[in-house]
Amino acid sequence: MRVLFILITVFLFSVGAMAHQTIGMKANQSTSTPSNSQHRAKHKIVIAHRGASGYLPEHSLAAKAMAYAMRADYIEQDVVMTKDNKLIILHDHFLDRVTNVMSVFPNRYRLVNNNKRWFAIDFTLAEIKQLQMTEGFTIDPITHLKKNIYPDRFPIFKSHFTVSTLQEEIELIQGLNHSLGKRNGYQVGLYVEIKAPWFHRHEGKDISTATLKVLKKYGYTKKSDKIYIQCFDANELQRIKHKLMPQLFMNLKLVQLIAMTDWNETYTYKNNVAVPYQYDWMLKKGAMKKIASYADGIGPWKPMIIADGSTIDHLNITNMVTDAHAAGLVVHPYTFRKDPGRIPKYAKDFNQLLDIFLYQVGVDGLFTDYTDVAVKLINKHEKELQK
Ligand code: G3P
Ligand code: CA
Repeated sequence: MRVLFILITVFLFSVGAMAHQTIGMKANQSTSTPSNSQHRAKHKIVIAHRGASGYLPEHSLAAKAMAYAMRADYIEQDVVMTKDNKLIILHDHFLDRVTNVMSVFPNRYRLVNNNKRWFAIDFTLAEIKQLQMTEGFTIDPITHLKKNIYPDRFPIFKSHFTVSTLQEEIELIQGLNHSLGKRNGYQVGLYVEIKAPWFHRHEGKDISTATLKVLKKYGYTKKSDKIYIQCFDANELQRIKHKLMPQLFMNLKLVQLIAMTDWNETYTYKNNVAVPYQYDWMLKKGAMKKIASYADGIGPWKPMIIADGSTIDHLNITNMVTDAHAAGLVVHPYTFRKDPGRIPKYAKDFNQLLDIFLYQVGVDGLFTDYTDVAVKLINKHEKELQK
């Protein structure tokens, strides 16, 4: 069933892939593409956020195949570790938002702030493979009914999806690069996020080293390879840059993801006590230069670039992109969604939102759940430039 789904999605969108190619862009030339005009326009990249997650359950192989066929430049992997040290693709280090783990293993939870959470790290890969994966859901506290987080997306617990490993996903993308991309002159890249390394290391698991080893095994070793590694944990990113990659004779492009401090996205441990990481310095003057000492790019939250409260006539654009570019960093903000309620008020629709970020602010690419829309908009813009 899963394989059939993949084949159908690839077939359906391969026509679109051909159309994309006619404008002369090659996805394996990700940094710059000459245009016919006197300008050398830099190709803006589309990062398929958790795959084509607007249409199929996030991080399912079907969603990745669909994103590939829609001609994403990069496809995102969020990486988490299992009890038996296997790397799986999952947005949270919990299983309960996107699987039926609560029914299959009702007692295998930990309490976090009095909430039951089923941690991936407490399950072996064989156990996780028994679970059915689905579109993200919440549980109504009164009726206890499960409902889609995004009502217009793929219905929950329909069809059949499972959690995949990092290896399985790389083999899918590399397989498509061989069977589809190579024939048509492009290659799709990986955009790998190492999730909560502070947590994994506290649990005795070096997720960064394990991830790098898998990437190396599959041929990703140098800056020019079509891959970015992203992480919210600045300390870990510096460890990857200055210690782990040199030890492994690797030198991949790194992206510092930027969170708001009050999200408690990252912790550090002081005397075994978890202390929230303070992100505030990343929003201050001089931060981009500092980040450029260990990373190649930043992944900021949209409102860090255009402040909430902006209007279409008065966009309050921060200095972040200008400062990042001056420091030599690329900028790939997250996350662009066209679902109801997810488009900031300063844009009349999703296309206008993308256009503002890509062509008014000048970001270098973006994370989106709707790869097809972003690819279409960028293609149109690049075609215009070629006239
Ligand atoms: O990784 C960038 C983007 O994915 C934002 O983070 O993982 O919370 O969706 P995430
Ligand atoms: Ca991510």
